[in-house]
Amino acid sequence: MEDQMMHSEKLALLGRLTTGIVNEIGNPLTSVFSFIQMLKAKEQDEFKSESLETIDLYMKRIADILKRLSGFSSMPPLELKPCKVNSLIENSLSLIQYDTRVNNITIVKDLMPDIPQITTDGNLLSQVIVNIVLNAADAMQDGGTLTIRSGEQADTVLIAFEDSGVGIPAKTLVRIFDPLYTTKEKGTGLGLAVSQNIVEKLNGTLSAESEVNKGSRFVITLPVD
Ligand SMILES: Nc1ncnc2c1ncn2[C@@H]1O[C@H](COP(=O)(O)OP(=O)(O)OP(=O)(O)O)[C@@H](O)[C@H]1O
Ligand SMILES: [Mg+2]
Repeated sequence: MEDQMMHSEKLALLGRLTTGIVNEIGNPLTSVFSFIQMLKAKEQDEFKSESLETIDLYMKRIADILKRLSGFSSMPPLELKPCKVNSLIENSLSLIQYDTRVNNITIVKDLMPDIPQITTDGNLLSQVIVNIVLNAADAMQDGGTLTIRSGEQADTVLIAFEDSGVGIPAKTLVRIFDPLYTTKEKGTGLGLAVSQNIVEKLNGTLSAESEVNKGSRFVITLPVD
């Protein structure tokens, strides 16, 4: 089943399943949360308090994953408008300019002037750009450079993200777009799965190549008007 199902089908299935699950367990989950808060407020014992903190943390994680998963089934209808890719890149970067992870890295922009206009959903594309930039920042914890390029090739517009981070081993590279695949302690493994889903809905492609200890390159292509 793994190989036969497209990512987008997997996501859609996950979305439908989770909508059901979220509806069924939403109420009990809320109750558990409020009991945890109550116990946390009363508990004097250090070990028990710390245990409650840990339970609380994992419960929040479950709630977060469910929330993000259920988001797929209800992806809003596309809002297609003529967009300037370079401005979209700038706007996306400004959304995360205060994120501490991003402050740690150098971002170099190499944007093609007079790049052809595309008709796309700017909000969704911005979400993809943010996901890719945050991943790059995560991959460069000790600093590094992310180069963002825009360009044109045949009838497509290209946005490329090259980081000088830890890179991705070949074995892992084939899994990074899988929903829920993550190597991060606090990751949900949904960033790239959602991003690929979005780009495909916009009739484009999202691909990755990487070399361990050198860095990774993610490329979005989108059709020109
Ligand atoms: N630029 C990158 N450099 C190295 N590894 C990367 C890069 N981008 C993605 N990855 C790998 O791909 C995995 C999946 O990425 P994805 O964005 O889908 O999930 P995540 O970042 O782990 O969690 P989140 O849902 O919070 O985004 C990451 O856990 C990481 O191992
Ligand atoms: Mg991510």
